[in-house]
Amino acid sequence: MTVSHAVLATVLCAVTLVSSAPNAHPLSPVTLPVEAFSPLIAQKVLATANTLLSPAQYPQYTDRIEGTWQWFSPDTWTTGFFPSTLYALNARSTLCSKDSGNLKETDWLELGRTWSAAEVPLETHTGVGHDVGFLSYPFMDELVVNTHNATAVTAVNNFAKELAARFSPIVGCTRSWDSADPTDFQVIIDNMMNLQVLFASADLNGNDTLRQIAISHARKTAINHIRPDGGSFHVVDYNSTTGKVIDRRTSQGYANNSTWSRGQAWGIYGFANSSSFSCQVFTIIHMPRYCAVYKQTNLSEFLQVSRHMAAYFLDHLPKDGIVPWDFNAPLSPPRPADTSAATIASMAFLLLAQQELAQQPTNTTGANLYVDAAVRLLQTTTALAWKPSWRSLLSNGTVNNPAQNNLTGIVYGTSVFF
Ligand SMILES: *[C@@H]1O[C@H](CO)[C@@H](O)[C@H](O)[C@H]1NC(C)=O
Ligand SMILES: *[C@@H]1O[C@H](CO)[C@@H](O)[C@H](O)[C@H]1NC(C)=O
Ligand SMILES: *[C@@H]1O[C@H](CO)[C@@H](O)[C@H](O)[C@H]1NC(C)=O
Ligand SMILES: *[C@@H]1O[C@H](CO)[C@@H](O)[C@H](O)[C@H]1NC(C)=O
Ligand SMILES: *[C@@H]1O[C@H](CO)[C@@H](O)[C@H](O)[C@H]1NC(C)=O
Ligand SMILES: *[C@@H]1O[C@H](CO)[C@@H](O)[C@H](O)[C@H]1NC(C)=O
Ligand SMILES: *[C@@H]1O[C@H](CO)[C@@H](O)[C@H](O)[C@H]1NC(C)=O
Ligand SMILES: *[C@@H]1O[C@H](CO)[C@@H](O)[C@H](O)[C@H]1NC(C)=O
Ligand SMILES: *[C@@H]1O[C@H](CO)[C@@H](O)[C@H](O)[C@H]1NC(C)=O
Ligand SMILES: *[C@@H]1O[C@H](CO)[C@@H](O)[C@H](O)[C@H]1NC(C)=O
Repeated sequence: MTVSHAVLATVLCAVTLVSSAPNAHPLSPVTLPVEAFSPLIAQKVLATANTLLSPAQYPQYTDRIEGTWQWFSPDTWTTGFFPSTLYALNARSTLCSKDSGNLKETDWLELGRTWSAAEVPLETHTGVGHDVGFLSYPFMDELVVNTHNATAVTAVNNFAKELAARFSPIVGCTRSWDSADPTDFQVIIDNMMNLQVLFASADLNGNDTLRQIAISHARKTAINHIRPDGGSFHVVDYNSTTGKVIDRRTSQGYANNSTWSRGQAWGIYGFANSSSFSCQVFTIIHMPRYCAVYKQTNLSEFLQVSRHMAAYFLDHLPKDGIVPWDFNAPLSPPRPADTSAATIASMAFLLLAQQELAQQPTNTTGANLYVDAAVRLLQTTTALAWKPSWRSLLSNGTVNNPAQNNLTGIVYGTSVFF
């Protein structure tokens, strides 16, 4: 279900809130694809939620033919997304007046909590490295609903501590992947998505070191991963002894110097997220609930990076608007799409729009640009890949093309934004 319901829910809420908020800024009207209101959204997620196994297994991506989920053990980087999706639907069913029918018939909160339970033990033992940030999403979701849930507080603090333990003051980053040679310190652009847990924990326990680690990581990434044209490298290798960059390359992209589209989308989102302060912000999405909990940095330097990466993304979209798995992959044979990159970018644009509206003076032009881009991405993506017969909402996701994993439905992206 790639970003699917979460993005759909967000756009939906966006429109609902934009039109109902008393102090709404005058954004242009947008036309959402009809799929945004499809009963399949609740049906499919519920069908998956009702298949909780014991011991727990989590959906990550589908097969290519029938669209059935492939299941993974809890200690996998993607397992936070499905529980977080359930929390997202809880939020959507509460907030979005345009929804009716089956979305309101399910206790999504209860399901979200049940599906989170098997992740709790990971806070003290996990092999996912920097992706403790992704694993923490459902617990951050829980704290939005119930700030006093001690299990969730402890999980967020422990995950943040684990990420902080991967920080090197010499390099200035948290280590993404472990390597056989420990002086080969590998950082991937995706790591920008994991910083949120540091901000969240800093707000919970008052430890400002966590926030400083996140800021340092984002600054180094801006310098070393982002190219002058706004594109990005997937992997930067640092020498942990000297702090120097020793390589810039790819793992999941087409070439060492290409821009892998999902990495670009993670970057736009991660930088926009790191730049925000809190919540005197006008609400495109239902962010005030989060803003009450998490304060970020209010650093416009990160907003600039996010804009720059967004411009690259939009400038490199082909005429048909379909996001390729890598912006520099050859056109022949036809390059597979990556609907997860498309939907993550779509959400990132909504977040950017929110940041533009929070500027003094309000940047309505910028906000409109990003809302339009988000909705267009959603339209081309659903037109290409809406897949009623699959368990995922969408097809045409590329998990890892060099590993020959393309043309699937993908769970991540689903709830990165809630
Ligand atoms: C507290 O949060 C955990 C994990 O998010 C969840 O499994 C549990 O059900 C929640 N407890 C209550 C009482 O809501
Ligand atoms: C703050 O967090 C850092 C990183 O986890 C840790 O080393 C330090 O001991 C913490 N400080 C306090 C006062 O807990
Ligand atoms: C990092 O630098 C140290 C000291 O110069 C050297 O011994 C080590 O081999 C280097 N590591 C890598 C991965 O280049
Ligand atoms: C990246 O560069 C390395 C070292 O030169 C090479 O082995 C690898 O094949 C290159 N990767 C791609 C995808 O071209
Ligand atoms: C990547 O490097 C190759 C070989 O040097 C070059 O032909 C290509 O134009 C470069 N691509 C980008 C996007 O910089
Ligand atoms: C954020 O930064 C701007 C510009 O530096 C400043 O005017 C504003 O008051 C800051 N907001 C908060 C909440 O700190
Ligand atoms: C989308 O997926 C279908 C099959 O599921 C495939 O035939 C088509 O080529 C894909 N399109 C792109 C652009 O990836
Ligand atoms: C408004 O947003 C657009 C798009 O991000 C940006 O290019 C422009 O500089 C912004 N304008 C101001 C005044 O900040
Ligand atoms: C998609 O994956 C298949 C294997 O599953 C691989 O043969 C094919 O080359 C990939 N498609 C492209 C265009 O890279
Ligand atoms: C940043 O991302 C996290 C994770 O998706 C989310 O919980 C948080 O609300 C975001 N913050 C802002 C200000 O968008």
